Amino acid sequence: MDKFKIIGPSKISGEVSISGSKNAALPILASTLLFDKPVVIENLPRVRDIDTMLNLLKSLGSKIQFSKNKKTVKIYKTKKYKYFGSYSILKTMRAGILILGPLVSKYHKSICSFPGGCVLNGNSGRPVNLHLNALKKMGMKYEIKKGYIHAKSNGKLKGATIKFPKISVGATEQLIMSAVLAEGRTLIKHAAIEPEIKDLTNFLKSAGANIKWIGKRTCQIIGVNSLNQTTYSVMGDRIETGTFCVAATLAKGNLIIKNFNPKIIQTELNLLKKVGAKIKIFQSKIHIKGPQKIKNINNITTKEYNGFPTDLQPQFMVLLCKANGASSITENIFQGRFIHVMELQRLGAKIKIKNNTAIIEGNSNLSGTEVMSSDLRASAALVLAGIAAKGETIVSRIYHLDRGYEKIENKLKKIGVKIKRISL
Ligand code: EPZ
Repeated sequence: MDKFKIIGPSKISGEVSISGSKNAALPILASTLLFDKPVVIENLPRVRDIDTMLNLLKSLGSKIQFSKNKKTVKIYKTKKYKYFGSYSILKTMRAGILILGPLVSKYHKSICSFPGGCVLNGNSGRPVNLHLNALKKMGMKYEIKKGYIHAKSNGKLKGATIKFPKISVGATEQLIMSAVLAEGRTLIKHAAIEPEIKDLTNFLKSAGANIKWIGKRTCQIIGVNSLNQTTYSVMGDRIETGTFCVAATLAKGNLIIKNFNPKIIQTELNLLKKVGAKIKIFQSKIHIKGPQKIKNINNITTKEYNGFPTDLQPQFMVLLCKANGASSITENIFQGRFIHVMELQRLGAKIKIKNNTAIIEGNSNLSGTEVMSSDLRASAALVLAGIAAKGETIVSRIYHLDRGYEKIENKLKKIGVKIKRISL
């Protein structure tokens, strides 16, 4: 298992280019199951979750052809289609569940394992009840046997009106994909509206899907008979962008972040301005300068888009450890998403947890030691802490990080961070 060795504190300056969004690319790739014609997807991030999704598609019978730089794939359908999403692939990635709706919609059957992925919700796990209940309303019947969902439909799925009891990114994506070839009109109410979902609907629309957003959280899909050949470029990764913005703010940096539309991360940029960062935004670029002294902030709460994202909560927590006073962050999306706190404490952070709120004391003198990654964004937080800490930090289990950040050590090295991958 690979580790990172980081020598801090680091100075950050220069330019970094943002990769394609993992969380936009995953549903887009899953939705290629709906096509008969070839699809070309550009700007794919080369991260492990994308490889896992491509392997899953291959295991179902899709043919995958990479461009030279492996950031563009052409995906063809083959005649030998399978309907089986195996545990061995789905156990490593939550987004694997997104094949269920497209398979049932297109082929009227699927046997699909319950998915794995980051453990973020303590003992509650990460349920898929919202996905299953909504698909049931569209005519999918299912049984659960030995960890597998055995699903089928009697012909095409039927359009329905579905009001989610809770906003869910994955369940919204699942339903949109399932409704594209369904019979009639589907209305999804209380839908998630993350930019990655808009990227999925833009992709499907580019292939002829009839999708319209009506009001803020309502999506209307009218089923079409088939989708056309299309070429689509995945949006930039807003969580990678946020992570680099935090890195620059934390390390008194002077950083230009390229290939990203800053308009979609206004909430995060406003928070960074509040802590003292100087930010200039351009059409597809951000120029960020970190302050000499980081100011504390109270009552940051994670929320669905366009609130503050849970996927940046661990990284902002590191930033606030260096603030000149106490701050607090409340986690509203995933109850158990504070596993990184224990590791940050090993580096000298002073953080207390009260229910789903973390109180961050600030003014911490972080000092390098050995820490262990527990999930994707927690790993990013530990790398950031290593950048701010004095001396040598070893971050182990970085396979979590490799799931979602493309060659992060190369990007960080280029902007001045002393970081080395140690492969054992
Ligand atoms: C997506 O996960 C992202 N993953 C996550 O990013 C992100 O943290 C999350 O949305 C929230 O923004 C991908 O896009 C691949 P949800 P998802 O369904 O879809 C509960 C990262 O680091 N819920 O919006 O799984 C659930 O337990 C990852 O890149 C149900 O109760 O999240 C949670 O409390 C980690 N029943 C809340 O809803 C369900 O059937 C929101 O989850 C589904 C979800």
